[in-house]
Amino acid sequence: MKLHHSLAVLIIAWFSVTGHIQAVTLEVKEGNTTCIKAELSVSFTITYNTSSSTRTVQVSLPDSSTVEAGSSSCGTASSSPWLVAVFGPGHALGLGFSSNGSLYSVATLMLQYNLSDTSIFPDADSPDVVTVVSSSVGISATINTTYRCDSPTAVSVGGATVTFSGMKLEAYMPGNDLSPTESVCIADQTSTTAPPTTASTTTTTALPPTPPGTPERGTYSVNNINGTVCLLARMGLQLNVSYFSLSQNKTIQELVNLSPNETSVSGSCEPSSASLVLTQEQITMLNLTFTLNSTSNKYRLSAITLLANWSDMTAPFLASNTSLDYLRSTLGRSYMCNAEQTLAVVPTFSLNTFRVQVQPFEVTTNQFATAEECQIDQTQMLIPIIVGAALAGLVLIVLIAYLIGRKRSHAGYQTI
Ligand SMILES: *[C@@H]1O[C@H](CO)[C@@H](O)[C@H](O)[C@H]1NC(C)=O
Ligand SMILES: *[C@@H]1O[C@H](CO)[C@@H](O)[C@H](O)[C@H]1NC(C)=O
Ligand SMILES: *[C@@H]1O[C@H](CO)[C@@H](O)[C@H](O)[C@H]1NC(C)=O
Ligand SMILES: *[C@@H]1O[C@H](CO)[C@@H](O)[C@H](O)[C@H]1NC(C)=O
Ligand SMILES: *[C@@H]1O[C@H](CO)[C@@H](O)[C@H](O)[C@H]1NC(C)=O
Ligand SMILES: *[C@@H]1O[C@H](CO)[C@@H](O)[C@H](O)[C@H]1NC(C)=O
Ligand SMILES: *[C@@H]1O[C@H](CO)[C@@H](O)[C@H](O)[C@H]1NC(C)=O
Ligand SMILES: *[C@@H]1O[C@H](CO)[C@@H](O)[C@H](O)[C@H]1NC(C)=O
Ligand SMILES: *[C@@H]1O[C@H](CO)[C@@H](O)[C@H](O)[C@H]1NC(C)=O
Ligand SMILES: *[C@@H]1O[C@H](CO)[C@@H](O)[C@H](O)[C@H]1NC(C)=O
Ligand SMILES: *[C@@H]1O[C@H](CO)[C@@H](O)[C@H](O)[C@H]1NC(C)=O
Ligand SMILES: *[C@@H]1O[C@H](CO)[C@@H](O)[C@H](O)[C@H]1NC(C)=O
Repeated sequence: MKLHHSLAVLIIAWFSVTGHIQAVTLEVKEGNTTCIKAELSVSFTITYNTSSSTRTVQVSLPDSSTVEAGSSSCGTASSSPWLVAVFGPGHALGLGFSSNGSLYSVATLMLQYNLSDTSIFPDADSPDVVTVVSSSVGISATINTTYRCDSPTAVSVGGATVTFSGMKLEAYMPGNDLSPTESVCIADQTSTTAPPTTASTTTTTALPPTPPGTPERGTYSVNNINGTVCLLARMGLQLNVSYFSLSQNKTIQELVNLSPNETSVSGSCEPSSASLVLTQEQITMLNLTFTLNSTSNKYRLSAITLLANWSDMTAPFLASNTSLDYLRSTLGRSYMCNAEQTLAVVPTFSLNTFRVQVQPFEVTTNQFATAEECQIDQTQMLIPIIVGAALAGLVLIVLIAYLIGRKRSHAGYQTI
């Protein structure tokens, strides 16, 4: 049966500039014939429960992954071809294919992860091996061509997200290697309109990016293990990142607004720390961590991490500072600041906040507690009061001067 297939895995792994991204090559063979081949990088974002909260971890398909002989196959008249890669203690990624003779596609995506693996899932509240399956993957190509997609493609499967990037894939292969003809995915067709070689000639005409304006205000919440809201935030966020631009061949300063409708929320709540993690299509991840000082009953925004993998970057951008002291307030209160604030994180990244209200601890009945307003707002509220008082004072002085003047001139007439 399937066991007599001679299967081989050839793993070519190389590390990107940052050393984090691993491209893996996987092959399913039957006899001397290769029927499925994939070259790709895969990252998994998985949310799991601990005894007190939920956590989100990000792991990538390691270069030590192997094709599992027992469950991979080239398919028969009655069964679909499958590529199943296994890694670590009981984790697996599977792709099941289908074809109608002119097109082939990934009909099923299967992800299996073992919560007993404490190196990836510390403090998981269950030892289960979780298997999740999705049948809307959106990867398809003309038969006898290689499916190619450099842009990240994210697929939701259960509570997890699987993101493929730098992908080359073919099933129902006519030869033993990837076909030279490619079916390029739509994301690549739109994002790489100008080949890099022409970049130097287009820079002179390239318009500077339009300033994004004030970001929209989003409402974000993180749930406890029992489903109750434990962190609430309403705010507009703008990233100010400086990085080396491929298209402009120089370091540029870019302002990027987070659009709430395109942002997914995760995070965790612990007794003395709470994190809000905002993710946009797996290419921007912002992690805001609040800590509580239980001696003083004060909390603060103590750590900010940004991971950005924008198309114009030479390498993914990672910036983190874990000794910050922003958005300070008292336990049992929310923090509020209507004025724009700039939170410096590292020299190449700062975060601009607009109309913030946040409460990372002791949220009850899904509502903000009484707000403690930031100093800038209080000062700004004082300005109209001071101006008003000054004007009133001025009017009073003029009035007194007038009255005195009138009295004097009146007296003058009388003496004549
Ligand atoms: C596979 O290739 C080897 C050497 O090229 C050959 O000896 C063998 O017969 C082939 N096996 C099949 C099933 O074609
Ligand atoms: C976490 O626990 C909640 C409540 O028990 C449950 O609804 C949810 O499915 C769990 N999530 C995961 C990823 O196991
Ligand atoms: C939910 O869990 C938190 C701590 O994990 C606890 O403080 C709270 O009382 C729980 N709420 C409900 C409704 O069970
Ligand atoms: C967010 O940052 C905190 C503190 O640095 C860390 O404990 C947590 O694991 C991070 N969350 C994610 C999803 O990276
Ligand atoms: C899950 O992980 C644990 C600990 O690493 C291991 O003992 C167990 O065999 C794994 N389960 C499977 C199905 O591989
Ligand atoms: C295969 O499916 C595609 C898209 O659904 C369709 O355009 C094509 O005509 C189909 N080909 C055959 C041979 O059924
Ligand atoms: C960043 O994006 C590139 C291409 O868009 C992809 O090849 C790479 O794997 C991504 N890196 C990470 C860490 O997501
Ligand atoms: C694909 O290639 C094989 C082998 O070259 C050929 O027999 C088959 O007709 C091709 N299929 C299509 C749809 O072009
Ligand atoms: C980028 O700029 C450097 C120096 O400014 C120059 O030497 C190099 O040729 C440029 N590269 C491209 C692709 O324009
Ligand atoms: C972005 O950061 C740069 C460098 O820190 C700074 O000069 C610039 O004023 C910032 N822009 C905004 C809109 O915050
Ligand atoms: C999000 O909202 C903006 C403006 O409000 C809109 O332009 C954009 O298309 C929306 N995106 C999605 C995915 O709904
Ligand atoms: C907590 O607050 C107290 C009193 O303000 C201070 O002495 C202590 O250093 C703080 N602890 C931490 C971990 O910041």
